[in-house]
Amino acid sequence: MTNGDERKQKVGAALVVGGGIGGMQAALDLAEAGIKVYLVESKPAIGGVMSQLDKTFPTNDCAMCTMAPRLVAIGRHKDIEVLTLTEVVRIEGEPGNFTVTLKRRARFVDESVCTGCGACVANCPIRFVPQPLDGAPPVKLAPDVQARVDQIIAEHRHRPGPLMPILQSINAVYNYFPEDVLRYVSRQLNIPLTQILRVATFYNAFSLKPRGKYIINVCMGTTCYVRGSERLMERFADTLKIKPEETTPDMLFTLKAVRCIGCCGLAPAVMIGDTVYGKLTVKEVSAIIKKYQGTNGHGQAHAG
Ligand code: SF4
Ligand code: FES
Repeated sequence: MTNGDERKQKVGAALVVGGGIGGMQAALDLAEAGIKVYLVESKPAIGGVMSQLDKTFPTNDCAMCTMAPRLVAIGRHKDIEVLTLTEVVRIEGEPGNFTVTLKRRARFVDESVCTGCGACVANCPIRFVPQPLDGAPPVKLAPDVQARVDQIIAEHRHRPGPLMPILQSINAVYNYFPEDVLRYVSRQLNIPLTQILRVATFYNAFSLKPRGKYIINVCMGTTCYVRGSERLMERFADTLKIKPEETTPDMLFTLKAVRCIGCCGLAPAVMIGDTVYGKLTVKEVSAIIKKYQGTNGHGQAHAG
């Protein structure tokens, strides 16, 4: 047997508690050293917090690009046994010779046949409770609001997939989604409110909170950040006397931090409506705000 073979020889079993990125890497390192690994995770899947992130600090690397190779390697590794929905109840013994008692919760899905198609998620009777349309009190809207919403619904309801154009039209009128309007749309289209909220909260262009007439999108993507977008954000916030994600009391401006808006060559960039302000300096912030406070709120494209 060579030294390499000896190193690959199994020398025991290890328990890794927690299937976040650290636990995943530890399990892979141990398994590569020839040790049988039990990777215990209390959640339904490994991945931890990182699986919920889009990008990671400080390099803004795609979180899934970091995780995916490890997920595949763990899934394929013959010496790693993943125990999800599992918690450690008791540990007895000493280092090198210990016994662990685990408690595993039921998954209610046969993992050997589930293909992960997601159809059960979309039709979950708990998450997406069908709205009790029959016998439920009707949603009351102010007459003018109802007339406007009825008109929007009538324009789109016979198109395939009417929800999105209806939400876009309502957003164009109100600049956000009043809750009673969404409830009304749910009843009229016979679509569960939870399903409507899923669409309404997915897109950046939509909001469930009232927003200002002008949304100031300060790009905090990497290029803009290193070129000073944080100082721009501070200057906008100081001048408008609001914090990011807040709206001025006169409902004229909402200040938002956004990711790359696709104008990195103009960094640092700020977008208001369809207008991009590129290579912006803090000295120009106050003039831009004044322009929108005047009657002509639509600035022209501007690059430093
Ligand atoms: S519907 Fe799809 S994801 Fe859900 S249990 Fe069946 S195969 Fe798995
Ligand atoms: S990082 Fe700001 S536009 Fe790309």
